[in-house]
Amino acid sequence: MNQIKSKIDASDTQFKDSVESYSQVISTYRSRMKSIINRDEDSAVVRHRLRGKLDARSRIELLIDEKTPFLELSTLAAYGQYENQFPSAGIITGIGKIHGKSCMIIANDATVKGGTYVKETVKKHLRGQEIALKNHLPCVYLVDSGGIFLPEQSQIFPDRDGFGRIFYNQAQMSAEGIPQVSIVMGSCTAGGAYVPAMSDETIIVKNQGTIFIGGPPLVKAATGEEVTAEELGGAFVHAGISGVADHLAENEIDAIRICRNIFELIPQNELQHFEMVSVEEPAYDPIELYGLAPADLRKPVDIYEIIARIVDGSKFEPFKRNYGATIVTGYSRVLGFPVGIIANNGFLTSEASLKGAHFIEICNFRKIPILFLQNISGFIVGKKYEHEGIARNGAKLIHAVATAVVPKITVIFGGSFGAGNYAMAGRAYNPDFLFVWPSSKIGVMGGQQALHVLNSIKGNELEDSDSNLINQFEEESTAYYSTSRLWDDGIINPADTRNIVGLAISITSNRKFAEPKNGIIRM
Ligand code: COA
Repeated sequence: MNQIKSKIDASDTQFKDSVESYSQVISTYRSRMKSIINRDEDSAVVRHRLRGKLDARSRIELLIDEKTPFLELSTLAAYGQYENQFPSAGIITGIGKIHGKSCMIIANDATVKGGTYVKETVKKHLRGQEIALKNHLPCVYLVDSGGIFLPEQSQIFPDRDGFGRIFYNQAQMSAEGIPQVSIVMGSCTAGGAYVPAMSDETIIVKNQGTIFIGGPPLVKAATGEEVTAEELGGAFVHAGISGVADHLAENEIDAIRICRNIFELIPQNELQHFEMVSVEEPAYDPIELYGLAPADLRKPVDIYEIIARIVDGSKFEPFKRNYGATIVTGYSRVLGFPVGIIANNGFLTSEASLKGAHFIEICNFRKIPILFLQNISGFIVGKKYEHEGIARNGAKLIHAVATAVVPKITVIFGGSFGAGNYAMAGRAYNPDFLFVWPSSKIGVMGGQQALHVLNSIKGNELEDSDSNLINQFEEESTAYYSTSRLWDDGIINPADTRNIVGLAISITSNRKFAEPKNGIIRM
């Protein structure tokens, strides 16, 4: 494979200025992440620790194999909502290794409103289960939750993808043979009681874990019976009387030890085989991506420069380099894994769509995971293109993306607008993972364009609210707005893209890839 030869002079003053200005974007990102992760001053955290309990992230650190990475998802979920009272939406999810086996870990954070669930908490929990189900990942639930956050119940309880879906998913995962283990480290109230009850095995921590369908106040109101939490559903009750728990742990550390012991004998799922090669660092420093990240989406970016700072040895073999050049397709490797790359280099045209669809077919048959690098303002518009059948050709790409059977990893590094979002494996196209750079933008179109469209429909009636509409589109298209609502799996530092994509591919290889299958493709 040939190495991409960069045309960037990293010592050039203008390039250095771009790197410097993107460093500001990164520093905002880091400080927002820090405010979510390090909450030492928060009174709920102080109280939690005084009770001798570990933080949710510390529990995870002890659970996974020492010195192995944990791919945390959607750390900034619920960011900027609920007056920022739900950091990470009160739940930590991600993938780590226990005894060498990749597994999904879903951990309540009891320091966030008693570990209760708002809409984003449920969405995050369900997304974790979805990833586990698709990749056949064993699942550990670290339970410490008061159930539904009652003032928001109408947003959480009744709909298909509400709180009840958690237990539905547990049954589906179990039916697929996916092991599930719960450690009850605190409250497990009402519907939440079904998390441990529906797990294969449950560990409960002495004098700390409780499980009940109705807590003491509810029991008193319903029956007049007065009972303490411990008598009603403490560790001794469930490990000795009710049979809801299977292992009694002395403390949290002991519970984690028992869980790891259980994992020792959990069989490894059959992995997808790849011909691996040794890992080669890119020839160009990934930090230089700061100077390439499109801060101004109107400025074109040479996608080969971005690819060169993500892939092994900066090596890339283009497919149809000179045809439909607004999409770049080709073969490469990330952390030794084979990968097919589909990346935007301008508007999507008919030729680019056909080329993308063709390349996906190749990856499907050769069982090569696909990395979508998104920076797309949409499909090309105009009479000439409509007459040429851009909709018909675009449909082929969308069809191929939707029916691809190999893993799809999407990274939005620039804009993600209109139907371009669909054709490049946006959230609705079930990418296995979708990460965004902090400067990226997502929306049906830009604010200015939306204003033109609405003005042309309404005959300039909207003039007074021009700036309101533009501001609304601007705010709603930011990466922070997106990640807060779980439209992605997290904001990532561009310099970490390579490691995160490699980790994501390794996780998806925990399952055998299915055989290719298409529907009717309009010719
Ligand atoms: N809905 C809304 N808010 C809740 C809540 C719920 N289900 N459970 C707890 N909270 C809030 C508390 O009001 C408190 O808010 P504040 O920080 O603004 O004062 C915060 O979460 C922490 O609760 P607190 O009781 O102080 O913490 P704790 O660690 O001592 O106890 C629980 C946590 C979860 C054991 C306890 O709050 C509880 O039993 N909650 C009710 C659980 C329940 O019945 N759920 C049924 C819903 S399906």
